[in-house]
Amino acid sequence: MTKKEAHKKILWGAASAAYQVEGATGCDGKGKNSWDDYYEKNNLGYDGSFAVDHYHHVEEDLRLFHEIGLQSYRFSVSWSRILPEGTGKINKKGLEFYDRIVDTLNQYGIEPYLTIYHWDLPLPLLEKGGWLNPEIIQEFLEYCKILFEHFRGRVKLWATINEPASEVIEGYIQGTHPPQEKNYTHAIQVSHHYNLASAKAIQLFREMKMEGKIGIVLNPMPVDILEDTEENRKARDIAYSFLSDWYICPALTGHYPEEMLKFCQETYHAPMIQEDEIRVMEENIGDYLGVNYYMRRVVKAGNFASDKIEDMFSYVKVPGGNYTKWGWEIYPEGVVKLLERIYNEYGKTEIIISENGIGFDDQMNEEGKFEDYERISYLKDHTEMIEQICAKGMDITGYYVWSAIDLLSWTNGYQKRYGLIGVDFETMERSVKKSGEWYREFIRQENGK
Ligand code: BG6
Repeated sequence: MTKKEAHKKILWGAASAAYQVEGATGCDGKGKNSWDDYYEKNNLGYDGSFAVDHYHHVEEDLRLFHEIGLQSYRFSVSWSRILPEGTGKINKKGLEFYDRIVDTLNQYGIEPYLTIYHWDLPLPLLEKGGWLNPEIIQEFLEYCKILFEHFRGRVKLWATINEPASEVIEGYIQGTHPPQEKNYTHAIQVSHHYNLASAKAIQLFREMKMEGKIGIVLNPMPVDILEDTEENRKARDIAYSFLSDWYICPALTGHYPEEMLKFCQETYHAPMIQEDEIRVMEENIGDYLGVNYYMRRVVKAGNFASDKIEDMFSYVKVPGGNYTKWGWEIYPEGVVKLLERIYNEYGKTEIIISENGIGFDDQMNEEGKFEDYERISYLKDHTEMIEQICAKGMDITGYYVWSAIDLLSWTNGYQKRYGLIGVDFETMERSVKKSGEWYREFIRQENGK
């Protein structure tokens, strides 16, 4: 296959997540979830109760996605819209909302890519321990089964769980996401429950003979150092193992990286792994690996004597580096380095770049338009890297811009915009940004039309 042919095999899409776009909290029988509770408790001055009201603008939004030429749209289902109590009684209105999304996408010829869980956990489940309580795995499977049965044949591209690492680190170590804990033992146990739940969902998908592909979506980061010393190299290896390989290794082999596993079990007595769980993980590797790429990490040695992994390295800013206002480094080469490492360590595997994008405080001009040229340059540089990756023979089958439309950034509110489509938050009017126009042209050229 030539480089151009490999590039053409890619579905060019864009992504979002239920809680970040839908709004309509409590509408049509939706139950409360972990994020409703988080914003109520933390008084940040924003929340997702209205978001960009995608729930009531869904036809318009999908028409705009079609207009900008998306070949696929990645969205997530809100668990508490389908099962307001987390388990038990199904809310038909919830399923009907996603029917509209799936059927309209199919009519437009846009491939629906459904994420089962993108962080919004029904509150009744959080109240009984959430992802720390092993019962969550059965509850998650009950929810998966409903979606598999309902969307059989209409959705062929599935993601089990979005970015467990973010939820583990921010939710259970840094305390910045629900349930706002700071507890390594809980964090590591929860990471195992996510990995196991994903493997069991994949197993169920296959047992139910579902048509299509399923996999987990991770956010692995390449890790670099500035000064090549033994201590810094050690810090780099710990950081990569903890942030990235702790999730890549189980997703691709069913096992945990040995050294990190030994350290966690000795230090935190976690994860506790029941007999047979590793076998289930080994036997249920996804059809592809979803990779959300935003940035690399650059670290230096920290305190290796600490019992907290995050103290063993500290993040450093690259002198002269290109950073956004929110401190995210723009480093397109990182995605090539990351995927090369994954290929070197685990061999050939199908990869979907399930998120890639940049948050800026885009300003609307007087005509209500967004001239986001910085985003265009970001997307150009990153899609160029995707071309390089294909040229190296890696198997990339999808690329999704984060995000299809402006949305809620979990802990930054609405100032940090990501969309190809802009939203006026006062009027809820939508308009295609310059980046949306650029992407339409890019996709058109990719298809040689
Ligand atoms: C990804 C998540 O980690 O990063 C998205 O899957 C999120 O849900 C995106 O919005 C950007 O993060 P942030 O914090 O800038 O909104």
